[in-house]
Amino acid sequence: MNHESLTVAVVGATGVVGRTMIQILNEREFPVGELRLLASGRSAGRTVSIDGHTLEIGEAVPDAFDGVDIALFSAGADVSHELAPAAVAHGATVIDNSSAWRMDPAIPLVVSQVNPDDLEGHPGIIANPNCSTMQLAPVLMALRDAVGLERVVVDTYQSVSGTGADALAELEAQIRAHIAGEAPIASVYPHPIAFNALPEIDVFLPNGYTKEEWKVVSENRKILHLPDLRISCTAVRVPVFVSHSEAVHVETRDPITPDRARRLFAAVPGVVVQDDPASHRYPLATEAAGRDEIFVGRIRRDESIADGRGLALWVVSDNLRKGAATNAVEIAEVLRERGWIHSADARGATPYATQVVAEARA
Ligand SMILES: NC(=O)c1ccc[n+]([C@@H]2O[C@H](COP(=O)([O-])OP(=O)(O)OC[C@H]3O[C@@H](n4cnc5c(N)ncnc54)[C@H](OP(=O)(O)O)[C@@H]3O)[C@@H](O)[C@H]2O)c1
Repeated sequence: MNHESLTVAVVGATGVVGRTMIQILNEREFPVGELRLLASGRSAGRTVSIDGHTLEIGEAVPDAFDGVDIALFSAGADVSHELAPAAVAHGATVIDNSSAWRMDPAIPLVVSQVNPDDLEGHPGIIANPNCSTMQLAPVLMALRDAVGLERVVVDTYQSVSGTGADALAELEAQIRAHIAGEAPIASVYPHPIAFNALPEIDVFLPNGYTKEEWKVVSENRKILHLPDLRISCTAVRVPVFVSHSEAVHVETRDPITPDRARRLFAAVPGVVVQDDPASHRYPLATEAAGRDEIFVGRIRRDESIADGRGLALWVVSDNLRKGAATNAVEIAEVLRERGWIHSADARGATPYATQVVAEARA
């Protein structure tokens, strides 16, 4: 172990996102001295093989965070609510993939290429956005900065891997049942997902939106520092294994041409423009799967908006990578590069919550 290396814990290490996190830590050569893999008591004692090394899964309990520098959590909101404060008390900084802390005013919610400066005041917990938010925010940032945002309408086409390992198995089983002439069995979703489109992701809220749709609304507002942004969403689960697609309609404050939008998007780190309808070139879920970039195409004027202030786009990204694991590791990289691994309190920095209040008053 070299002196610059860190002790990293992955909580939810047996899950779809947790396994992708381990893979991405390796791929990006994050300086991991010790990797601690944690999951529920059901998995404790099991082993996983990574790069020829066999590692044992431990149970995620408070003492497991002794000596941990960074803990990447991906085990659901209940586990995060319970264990993240315990991990912080043991000296770890938590980067949390669940929805547990995202809208907490004291906790920064960060997309690495949009608002990395928000990390400076973190109190020991940092929230990683929802996958549908993640791929949208960098694209909206480019328009916010160049021509201002008036209104955004986004409809999502989300893959089953966004639900986790059980949903991947359920889609596969339903496809096999269909081929065998058998009735599909639905247990993860309320209806069969194979050969279907389900406009229900997460629970329904009193305002008629689903919680997933409301995450896209409230998380984009927080990340983009636009608390009053007019934004609406319909979130749909589709029978795709990996990658979420989004149809996005944006009304801007100032006029913008599709050509200028293409140049703006291409200039955002991690965003790739794929937009050549003549050769049937546009972002596809199958091609985005396994990649870290956000792909944007079908960029055209929204003819329903006057004065050239409307754009329509198609945005696709791998929900397990940029939508979850890659962004979490990128956050860890920023913390390390800028010397912000420890909480703002420990470093004498201004807490995130205080910065937000100051910004709101300015
Ligand atoms: N999938 C996505 O695209 C995506 C994107 C962004 C965020 N997320 C979030 O990431 C989290 C995990 O998602 P996933 O798709 O990886 O789910 P998953 O495949 O179902 O995996 C869940 C993981 O959580 C662990 N876990 C469950 N209960 C636990 C407990 N009481 N204590 C410790 N570990 C426990 C499981 O361990 P066992 O194997 O021991 O049960 C497993 O490792 C969720 O909060 C989800 O909202 C997912």
